[in-house]
Amino acid sequence: MDKKATWDRFYKESASKGEFKNFEWFFGFHSVKNVILPMVQSMSLSHESALHILDMGCGTSALGPCIYSTSPCAVRVTCADISPEAVKLMKVHTSTQPSNKNSSLEFLELDGTELSGHFGARTLDMILDKGTTDALVRSKEGRAKAGQLIRQCVQILKPSGRLLQFSDEDPDARLIWLENEVKGVEEGADVGYQEMGEQRGVSYFCYQISPRTASDSDKGKLV
Ligand SMILES: C[S@@+](CC[C@H](N)C(=O)[O-])C[C@H]1O[C@@H](n2cnc3c(N)ncnc32)[C@H](O)[C@@H]1O
Repeated sequence: MDKKATWDRFYKESASKGEFKNFEWFFGFHSVKNVILPMVQSMSLSHESALHILDMGCGTSALGPCIYSTSPCAVRVTCADISPEAVKLMKVHTSTQPSNKNSSLEFLELDGTELSGHFGARTLDMILDKGTTDALVRSKEGRAKAGQLIRQCVQILKPSGRLLQFSDEDPDARLIWLENEVKGVEEGADVGYQEMGEQRGVSYFCYQISPRTASDSDKGKLV
């Protein structure tokens, strides 16, 4: 599941089945809107321009387009995926209108392990990861890529930014792994989570990773 070719085949096959339908890993926008929208709204209070939100490994999910169409405050939503097939499908089949006339929506073919080559350091407000890390961590090679992806996310997030990772992995395993991975970022990051409840007998979690600032790091140093 860490191979571009696997996902290209998957999206090509789904497209060949007839009418386009957004594919949702775990669940759709409806299940996460109460986590995302209030956070977007509160971040927007300290912003004059549109909040830049990245859906990393968007696939053909409607998550990014739904944020664009429902957020009352201005958002610049970038939906990015390593699969050109997924990106092509989204460009062709998305025709949603924004709630705020200053919002924008774009689709981008991009490898999440190379984010810092595309976005400047400390430029994004929010990064969403619904199933991308979960797909990667299923293989040994993918686990290393997932770590790289998370570190890149932390580097491109503003100090006030958040990476939200939706997952079915238990905090006992995911928190330790995340905490270890973010040690590879110069100033580090804080990791937390909230339970999202059960769906069809499976418990889901929203892991939240926020970059530390230089002054946060200093607070932890002995003088
Ligand atoms: C489990 S799917 C989740 C798709 C979507 N987020 C959703 O909720 O339905 C994982 C997605 O991650 C993408 N992906 C895998 N490796 C990637 C990478 N290195 N960079 C960007 N996207 C990647 C795949 O193409 C696939 O669309």
